[in-house]
Amino acid sequence: MNKFWNSRVKGLSPYVPGEQPKDRQFIKLNTNENPYPPSPLVIEAIQKAATDRLRLYPDPECTEFREAVVSRYGVKLEQVFAGNGSDEILAFAFGAFFESGKNAQALLFPDITYSFYPVYAGLWDIPFRAIPLCDDFSINVEDYKIPSGGLVLPNPNAPTGITLSVEDILSLAEYHEKQEKVFVIDEAYISFGAESVISYIEKHPNLLVVFTLSKSASLAGLRAGFAVGSVELIEGLRRVRDSFNSYTLDRLALAGAAAAVTDFSYYEEINRRIIATRQRVSQSLKVLGFVVLPSSANFVFIKPPNTGGAEFFAELRKRGILARHFNKERINGFLRVSIGTEEEMDIFLAACEEIIRN
Ligand SMILES: Cc1ncc(COP(=O)(O)O)c(C=O)c1O
Repeated sequence: MNKFWNSRVKGLSPYVPGEQPKDRQFIKLNTNENPYPPSPLVIEAIQKAATDRLRLYPDPECTEFREAVVSRYGVKLEQVFAGNGSDEILAFAFGAFFESGKNAQALLFPDITYSFYPVYAGLWDIPFRAIPLCDDFSINVEDYKIPSGGLVLPNPNAPTGITLSVEDILSLAEYHEKQEKVFVIDEAYISFGAESVISYIEKHPNLLVVFTLSKSASLAGLRAGFAVGSVELIEGLRRVRDSFNSYTLDRLALAGAAAAVTDFSYYEEINRRIIATRQRVSQSLKVLGFVVLPSSANFVFIKPPNTGGAEFFAELRKRGILARHFNKERINGFLRVSIGTEEEMDIFLAACEEIIRN
């Protein structure tokens, strides 16, 4: 424990991101990056923005990027917030909408979910209650209709990939609206087969829908995301951001992000390919004897037959393939495998077959 840390930093349990190896070429199936390149229009926009104007601060309103979201989704400019990746938006949302301190009501999220949620709760000192998923790893929405400090859910859930229906999400939004509590719905993986609730933000002023360009827009390296919600919620996020850093998105990221949101036909095509590959891989894994949870995301959550999750992870790594293993109760036996190109997944499937045979 470092003597220079304050008591808040001493108490933190920071998030551990997936490995980004530099020493060796791996088939990288561990951080849910998109295996296909970003739209050529994105690269062009970033190149165009790389001029001597970089000496000027970027637009703190992120107008061009937010306007692209307005055109694409038919929302109002005041209903859109832009952030440096959705992680930043989630961190701001926790700080803006959930009460801290030991007397506060607990924030709700599932026991198996995006592992950054408990980290943000720790950072802001927000008490939380992790509600167990059902035995089949699905979410029972009735479990979340209890008095609370608010609710955060990813749809589809991560790392399971299992999606919730729009009706279920709206019934939760309605319940929490009556309690005057915010419901953050994290749609990081929405473009891979689930249905967005973005069109319901007018109806539910407590619903904040958070998106990232890291996964479906192949821009994990750019760091851009956005949230859509009522004017009150967006204003809350801005208050936190402007008490921290008014320029969280740089000029290059703003230009690239606006182009990405505009060129959605390109992305629909590559994401269709990812969905088709996911279906093929899921089927092949089942034939090999794996448990494969029904995924609507760009990854599959799988349990190898007759081998532990950590052992299988190590065997894949030896063969130059990186997956993600979570050393956590209930999911110790599982691996999360991002969907790569057809060729990468053929190599992955061949490795799985070989490991099982040996
Ligand atoms: C459920 C979920 N939400 C949000 C994020 C963060 O995405 P980013 O900060 O890259 O936009 C991730 C990334 O893995 C995720 O899995």
